[in-house]
Order: sequence, then C-alpha cells, then structure tokens
Amino acid sequence: MTIFSTDALSHKHVLITGATGGIGYETAKVMARMGAKITVTGRKEDKLESLQKELAEITDPGNVFAKTADLTDGLDRNELIGKAEEAHGFINGLVNSAGVAGGKTVEELDERFIERLMNVNFKSTFLLTQAVYLKMMERKEGDIVNLASLSGLRGTHGNTAYSASKFAVVGWTQSMALEAIEYGIRVNSVSPGYVDTEMALSSIRRKAERRGISFEEGLEEAEQSIPSGRLSTAEEVANTIAFLMTDAARNIVGESVKISGGNYM
Ligand SMILES: NC(=O)c1ccc[n+]([C@@H]2O[C@H](COP(=O)([O-])OP(=O)(O)OC[C@H]3O[C@@H](n4cnc5c(N)ncnc54)[C@H](OP(=O)(O)O)[C@@H]3O)[C@@H](O)[C@H]2O)c1
Repeated sequence: MTIFSTDALSHKHVLITGATGGIGYETAKVMARMGAKITVTGRKEDKLESLQKELAEITDPGNVFAKTADLTDGLDRNELIGKAEEAHGFINGLVNSAGVAGGKTVEELDERFIERLMNVNFKSTFLLTQAVYLKMMERKEGDIVNLASLSGLRGTHGNTAYSASKFAVVGWTQSMALEAIEYGIRVNSVSPGYVDTEMALSSIRRKAERRGISFEEGLEEAEQSIPSGRLSTAEEVANTIAFLMTDAARNIVGESVKISGGNYM
C-alpha cells in the first residue's frame, strides 16, 4: 500500500540498520516507494540479498546499496558509512532499527547478556548515529529516527535489561533532539508495542513457555491485552517512520511516537 507520494523522499539518502529484520525490511520497502536512495544493512547476507531483489521491483536498482555489517564492530560501522557515501553520497536520513530482544527476569540476567543487549540497542547504535550526525552537522541537514519501544516508556514484567536499553534510546533521542535542532537536524523515535515480527513472536513464545501455556494461547492473550485486538504490522511501523522522515513532520522534534493499538496512552 502506498500512502505517500512517490517523490516524498526523493531528496533523501537514508541509511537503514536492522534491514534484515521485520521492521527495517518493511521500512526499506516503504522508503523505496517514496523515491529515496537507500542503504540497507544487517548481518544476514541471504536476507539482504532477498531484500535487494524485492527492492529492485519497487525502485531503480541503482537507488539501493546493501552492505552487511556487525554494528558492534567499529571498523564495520566506519566501512558501512564510507561505502554508503561512495554509493549514494551524503547520508541525510538514518533509521536505527537494529536491536536485540531481552525477555529475561532479574534472576535470569547475567553480565554477558546485559553487555550484549546494551551494546547493540544503545552503545553501538549511538556511535553509528554520532558518526553520521557529525557530517549532518556540517551540512546543517538530516533526519534521524530511532526504534525505541513501549518498553522504553514503561516497565514490563520480565523485561528489565531490554526496558533499560529502550529507556536509554528515548532519553538519548530527547537530549540529542535539543542539540540537533539548532543545526536543522531532527531526531525522533517510534515506540511500538507488539509488532508481528520474529522478535515479538519469540518473546510471546518464551513467556508462554514460562507460564506452561501454548504459543497460540499466549498470542491470544497478547492480542486481548491490546484495545485494538491485534498486534501492529511491521508496515504500519514503517509508515510512521517514513512519515517522520518527510518534510510534513518538520516541526516534530524529540518525540517518541507510540504505535500500540491503544495499549499505552
Ligand atoms: N517487534 C516488536 O514487537 C518491537 C516492538 C518495539 C520495538 N521494537 C524494536 O524495533 C527494532 C526492530 O525490531 P524487529 O521486530 O524488526 O526485530 P528483528 O526482526 O529481530 O530484527 C532485528 C534486526 O537487528 C539486527 N541486528 C541485531 N544485532 C545486530 C548487530 N550486532 N549488528 C547489526 N545488526 C544487528 C538484525 O540483523 P541480523 O538478523 O541480520 O543479525 C535484524 O536486522 C528493534 O530495535 C526492536 O527493539 C520491536
């Protein structure tokens, strides 16, 4: 479904992380339909290849550059930015969708798990953003959208480390937005509740196992806890991210837009 004009992002080169995952994948497709030049990245080469094939049916294949990168590796981050610029020039849009799930209770958490989670969801994502932002500052132009979560706005049972990492994303978004707007750069985040991607489905599966109920029962309970009666789709989240990247959102600064079917207001 195309709800934006086909040239709404034709002035943009958007770098999308987590493009091999549910939300990043759909965001790439939505932004390709809006005429953006895009760089997509993730770790899974086969997923990046299938995304590239799908994108080639939506937009000129020359508008798409794909590169694998492990964002926790500083060399990978620098190479990603360098190659993306070689392909499409200055990066004036960044979507930070790479992330890892938590879903552990306090007694289940250990140092290694916490480090990995905070590294991907906050530290490495922040360092990538910083590198892209320094160039945006020189040009006084750019838009950044971070994937936060409802878990970054309220606590939830069995989710301590993930929730802390997403509170970090919301806090970083708000603070950076205040610095960045002085340079005409907007920083926002989106905070989805459950989205129908592998991340949410495995979290529902884990919770169901812990409680000794089936996955189907767990899914039904999750759906019933949402006033709209269903999970969000990755495309719905992608549409919100894409809107925040357009000029129509030019006075939206430091927000965390909730997409939760009324689950949290
Ligand atoms: N799904 C939900 O219900 C939900 C709700 C709220 C917020 N969110 C947030 O939305 C974002 C996207 O979620 P999703 O549902 O699309 O998750 P997903 O399908 O599990 O995708 C996660 C993405 O992150 C990438 N990634 C993980 N570690 C990485 C690393 N070290 N280096 C580079 N890339 C890495 C993965 O790449 P590879 O697979 O190639 O390794 C994948 O592309 C995440 O930040 C998540 O926390 C999701």
